[in-house]
Amino acid sequence: MGMKNLRERKVVITGAASGIGRELALAFARERCDMVLADIDEAGLQETVGMVNGAGGSAEAFFCDVSKADQVTRMADRCFDKWGRVDLLINNAGVASTGFMGDVPITDWEWVMSINFWGVVYGCHAFVPGMKGQGEGHIVNVASAAGIISSAEMAPYNASKAAVISLSETLKSELAPYGIGVTVLCPTFVRTNLLEKMRFTDDFQRHCSTTGMANARWTPEKVAALVLDAVRRDRVYVLPQASARLIWLFKRISPAAYLGFFAFLMRMGWARGLMLRMVKAGF
Ligand SMILES: NC(=O)c1ccc[n+]([C@@H]2O[C@H](COP(=O)([O-])OP(=O)(O)OC[C@H]3O[C@@H](n4cnc5c(N)ncnc54)[C@H](O)[C@@H]3O)[C@@H](O)[C@H]2O)c1
Repeated sequence: MGMKNLRERKVVITGAASGIGRELALAFARERCDMVLADIDEAGLQETVGMVNGAGGSAEAFFCDVSKADQVTRMADRCFDKWGRVDLLINNAGVASTGFMGDVPITDWEWVMSINFWGVVYGCHAFVPGMKGQGEGHIVNVASAAGIISSAEMAPYNASKAAVISLSETLKSELAPYGIGVTVLCPTFVRTNLLEKMRFTDDFQRHCSTTGMANARWTPEKVAALVLDAVRRDRVYVLPQASARLIWLFKRISPAAYLGFFAFLMRMGWARGLMLRMVKAGF
């Protein structure tokens, strides 16, 4: 299994106006793919379309807010009308927020879940039925290492991404009989524009996130290359950073010891200090 040959595929990418989505579009352009690119940032989207067309691919900009089911359905209809098939669906659009439970306004919870979780559900719901009859295809859901690590002060983001990981794991088995592969991408910090719209409840969180982004070793180009490789090899999990893979291993060996360790750090008042050290070191 796995779509070993990515040449001239029909590809849909959400959140393609910036960051990881844009670099994925450019990577698929180099494979001469035909794309429908979605975002709510029209100017950024037009810029990506221009870059894709200059890089050997072809792309259509589709204004689509992934948190609106009817808009995602319309996009799916457009793609199946246009191509009769969709080889690759990449649910990448996402936003982030921070804050302790009770401090994070419910409106922030709803904002994060509506895009990061419901956006992915709407995408899968709208595209999967049409893809099932094709005999092959692939879905990439962009989650985050946050969905595995579950660190303090990020409950909405963590929960939205953990849900995307679980959804992807479910689809992996559900779609196997139809020849459709599933990949879930779980990075830590990647140098993108994610902070521009990110919401914080205090200055430490802003400082910590800004420091993490400034020291991020991974670029969206490198992450995009990993994703293409994962699609070719039909790999389920992609955790680009070794730090996240190590933490994941610790959690799998003993989830209770893992959570106990973080609870201990919180009780001692050391958690924020450690977090800041980690992001400074390029976590
Ligand atoms: N950058 C990181 O450190 C990092 C780490 C882990 C996971 N991620 C995930 O990667 C994905 C891509 O983010 P990025 O880092 O490239 O950030 P980014 O902000 O550069 O790009 C995200 C894009 O999604 C678009 N978007 C936001 N809300 C939307 C909506 N309702 N409908 C359609 N498009 C919408 C934005 O306009 C933007 O163009 C997100 O799901 C994010 O959670 C990023």
